[in-house]
Amino acid sequence: MTAPKEAPKTGAVHPARVFSGIQPTGNLTLGNYLGAVKRFVEMQNSGIETIYCMVDLHAITTWQDPSDLKRATRELAAGFIASGLDPKKSILFNQSQVAAHAELGWIFNCVSRMGWLNRMTQFKDKAGKNREAASVGLFAYPNLMAADILAYRATHVPVGEDQKQHLELTRDIAAKFNNDFKVDFFPITEPVIEGAGTRVMSLRDGTKKMSKSDPSDMSRINLTDDADTIAKKIRKAKTDPDPLPDNLEALEGRAEARNLINIYAGLSGDTPDKVIADHAGQQFGQFKPELAELAVAKLSPISAEMARLMNDVTEIDRLLGDGADRAAAIADPIVAEVYDIVGMVRSRTGNRHTEGNK
Ligand code: TYM
Repeated sequence: MTAPKEAPKTGAVHPARVFSGIQPTGNLTLGNYLGAVKRFVEMQNSGIETIYCMVDLHAITTWQDPSDLKRATRELAAGFIASGLDPKKSILFNQSQVAAHAELGWIFNCVSRMGWLNRMTQFKDKAGKNREAASVGLFAYPNLMAADILAYRATHVPVGEDQKQHLELTRDIAAKFNNDFKVDFFPITEPVIEGAGTRVMSLRDGTKKMSKSDPSDMSRINLTDDADTIAKKIRKAKTDPDPLPDNLEALEGRAEARNLINIYAGLSGDTPDKVIADHAGQQFGQFKPELAELAVAKLSPISAEMARLMNDVTEIDRLLGDGADRAAAIADPIVAEVYDIVGMVRSRTGNRHTEGNK
């Protein structure tokens, strides 16, 4: 599906367009894969227009070593492609190459309210006790995220459960902008939080999210882990001594067991109900090797392909540049209209945004 060239300002019908992003801040985890990347591939293959971004401007809201950031951005691009994203079918690019994100981000800094951002649980978690020392960028992070999505007037955003609050804020920003300027310009975006992998938990603690920032590498599976490491992490995953029951309700209060069932379901494509029924009565000594085998079968080809792609960084950079050109071709005219709506004079010859000037 393609978007109209000129988006009408009122009564707009927004064509389906998918946008999502991932921070290039280290290894992709199984949580990122099941909660996000796997869903990105499914949406790409359903024929909707899909735009996926490596959000390097978000990454620097916390300290990133510059050369690590470049490597992580390219590795994330390799991870996207190795997982099945096709640069011909989807637009794949890194955020900083398309200036529209930062430009619209600033406008949204002026639309969004301090009170809204003060309620963001991710800021509280990431800033920790010493909020005074957090960067301003970390506080304004959700405004830039809204800009990522709305610079394309995206209608659907596949993410894991932890991004729900940020997407609600995106809807609030879109609604406030439309209301303040008496336009029907931005769509009210739908979060797409579906499937068994929307909240993959730590392998060491079933009440904590699997995260690349967890100090223990044993808490997560990285897409770059080799087969032995994956098997070892699953073997050592925290569980309890009871066998698996035959239904999900009976797993109440057994967070680690429930997490392994969800991971199995996410990887196999079966529902958690089917997975528990198929494995009813098993001890973890039996279930874990089966899960490890499945994880290795699904993830090893991805890590092998990532390693192969990383041998040709020039080609990755070329693909990102090409993706950024295509992304900018969509976002620049949208931001041009935003500048016009807001009341900016745009008269510079050769300005990327003059086409929006009225
Ligand atoms: P990030 O980089 O933290 O995570 C990327 C995606 O992975 C999902 N995810 C998980 N899903 C299930 N279980 C887990 N344990 C798990 N850990 C991470 C996240 O929900 C996310 O979908 N703010 C975003 C990046 C972003 C963005 C955007 C997303 C920036 N702009 C615009 C959507 C649209 C983030 O920090 O993702």
